Amino acid sequence: MGVREDMYGLFTSVNEINLSDDQKGQSAKEGTHKKNISTSYDLQARMSKKGILWNWGYHDEQNAEEISTRIPGFLDYDTDGYSEELYFAALREVPFDLDDYADKFVLEVGCGLGEGLNFLSRVVDAKRMVGLDLSDEAIKRANASLSRAGLSYVQGDAENLPFEDGEVDVLVNIESAHNYPSLEKFLEEVARVLRPGGYFTHVDLYTTQRHTFLKELQDKDLGLEWVLDRDISAQVQAAIHGRLSPEGSFHKALREQRVGAIQRHMAKRVGPEAVGGSFAGYTDSGSTKLLKRVGVLPSQFMPPVDSYRLYVAKKI
Ligand SMILES: C[S@@+](CC[C@H](N)C(=O)[O-])C[C@H]1O[C@@H](n2cnc3c(N)ncnc32)[C@H](O)[C@@H]1O
Repeated sequence: MGVREDMYGLFTSVNEINLSDDQKGQSAKEGTHKKNISTSYDLQARMSKKGILWNWGYHDEQNAEEISTRIPGFLDYDTDGYSEELYFAALREVPFDLDDYADKFVLEVGCGLGEGLNFLSRVVDAKRMVGLDLSDEAIKRANASLSRAGLSYVQGDAENLPFEDGEVDVLVNIESAHNYPSLEKFLEEVARVLRPGGYFTHVDLYTTQRHTFLKELQDKDLGLEWVLDRDISAQVQAAIHGRLSPEGSFHKALREQRVGAIQRHMAKRVGPEAVGGSFAGYTDSGSTKLLKRVGVLPSQFMPPVDSYRLYVAKKI
């Protein structure tokens, strides 16, 4: 398969999973969906620059200031800091004191290249941190460049976590669950591996259908008490606008890359989709519309996102 087919598979599966009213039907197709998703993220892991995170980001001044107080010089990273801000916003809502992690096991499910968890290891001093991801290539890269005593990465599936019952104190999940064919199996696994009194913090993009389904699951007895449901769309859109502004990191990266004029043109037109452009109101340019019409690009990349949400739940 080529790059185009690999990316088409991801978009097809993510659209089906998030737009379907038939969630059980998506679970039945889990083999196809997971293959599409892992193939695409394997490819992205091979192509990504070091230090890259794979989420749409979050920005508000207070959040950024809190990080800078905790990690002086945090913006000296080779990133714009928005993706790290999303991680901080999620962890900050867990009601444990950030200075009280010395006895805690923090698990991130869907850790991508591992940079987000590596950032959190600078925010809190946890006893153990493990990142898990479906993509073998992403995990290889994370282990090669970031793992050290107390921080490691493992390949695995969110719907079948390789951990003991009640082993985890805090489970972090950042912009990953929209890829899971069964949100229900994932939440069952979250409840199983968390210890009573442990916390699940989760941020993700939500279509209307997926949000309705989550609300049904929240009414089920899964052993989780939902303590926070916040719409963070405005903060995520602020990050997307920052990234796509002429002086933002998206255009800066394009200027720095040594690619030909045609590739640059394509990246400029198509790239904003990958960083959440349509959620922030960016519309297709004429050339993107044409490429979609003639089938060079998929007719839809990400499904229409209704809101971007932050949830926290406590294991009962
Ligand atoms: C948009 S990326 C976010 C990565 C990371 N959390 C970040 O913010 O940089 C989604 C991640 O979820 C992972 N993923 C998708 N399905 C998964 C599954 N069933 N189990 C574990 N990880 C999965 C993908 O491989 C990918 O790394």
